[in-house]
Amino acid sequence: MFTPLDCGWGRQRLPIFSAHLLLGSMFFAASVSVAAEPLVGEPISPLPSLESLQLDPKKIKLGERLFQDTRFSKDNSTACISCHSLSKGGADGRKNSIGVRQQVGVINAPSIFNSGMNFRQFWDGRSDSLEDQVDKVVHDARELDMNWGDLLTILSTDAALVAEFKAVYPQEGLQATSIQNALASYQRSLLTPSRFDRYLLGDAKALEEDELKGYQLFKDYGCVACHQGVNIGGNMFQKFGVMDDYFAKRGGVSTADLGRFNVTQQEADKHVFKVPSLRNVALTAPYFHDGMTDTLDAAVDVMFRHQLGRTASATDKRLIVKFLTSLSGETTEVKP
Ligand code: HEC
Ligand code: HEC
Repeated sequence: MFTPLDCGWGRQRLPIFSAHLLLGSMFFAASVSVAAEPLVGEPISPLPSLESLQLDPKKIKLGERLFQDTRFSKDNSTACISCHSLSKGGADGRKNSIGVRQQVGVINAPSIFNSGMNFRQFWDGRSDSLEDQVDKVVHDARELDMNWGDLLTILSTDAALVAEFKAVYPQEGLQATSIQNALASYQRSLLTPSRFDRYLLGDAKALEEDELKGYQLFKDYGCVACHQGVNIGGNMFQKFGVMDDYFAKRGGVSTADLGRFNVTQQEADKHVFKVPSLRNVALTAPYFHDGMTDTLDAAVDVMFRHQLGRTASATDKRLIVKFLTSLSGETTEVKP
């Protein structure tokens, strides 16, 4: 059974120290300019800089092109970007995505932003890497319904693309593995630093007062027990419905609702999902793996009831939603 201490966060928290740091930097900001000190002991850490990841810009560029290439789908209709739009928080704004041959998907599309920071890929964590994720989506009958043989045959008639692959991947040239690596490199580059990251890095003015209060409530109520780390999620599996049975109320349980169980066949993994990242969450409605909740306010309600077994006052909820809004990336310029 889950307890907030499972994640080790409670042991590291130093609220007095961080409050002191915060007040200290606010005090100094007015008079002398001191180098901002990152906050210490927070359960959430800022995104790394893109430079620190040392990605190859040529691979990123190539991956960016492939991400928009409809030749990846059997009927030439659908590309990665059809379901992961950069202007829709890296998702598609739909309850269920529309894939190859206009087929409707079975689960809500997550954001690809910051996906390189997640410990596993997919709601049920069935991929260990972004490379493997590409292999799975290419074969998915509802998404692209492709296979490497056919895709390589089609793409190898494109002399310019073949030449570019040869230049960027001299050993492999155009291959399934180099395609996977280029797409993964591009996605690893899609980091969306937010005002909240600036706050964590020591800019005390980056958050408004209400957002700060919301962050405190997010910690105090125990949301951070699951939504924590660099992606405010994306680093553990948890049951959806720890305190109250979500599926009994909603009804119509599908295979997709079984979550991690589909990977492990373990009874205890029924309805267990990768805790989603809350970065850009204000931009990625509708919510949850079933896309059944339309607003952030309602999603926070669902979390209070089913994950924490409580209800929150309208004020606390409003402040938490405020905080969540501060997690939206500040820049749409995500390329190096
Ligand atoms: C038809 C819509 C559709 C297309 C096309 C599509 N995706 Fe997705 N993508 C989804 C859905 C739905 C999921 C969630 C599936 C699941 O978890 O079982 C997903 C999951 C992902 C994830 C995992 C994110 C996470 O946090 O778990 C990544 C990364 C991703 N897609 C990248 C891609 C790439 C790269 C392509 C192109 C090669 C692509 N997608 C094409 C709909 C789509
Ligand atoms: C016990 C772990 C746990 C706790 C505590 C928890 N969450 Fe979640 N959260 C999850 C899981 C798991 C999901 C994904 C559920 C699903 O869609 O199947 C989720 C999903 C969400 C989503 C929807 C994200 C999306 O993209 O669809 C939001 C918003 C959210 N949580 C906010 C919160 C807030 C705010 C709190 C505190 C009030 C909280 N969570 C507490 C585990 C937790």
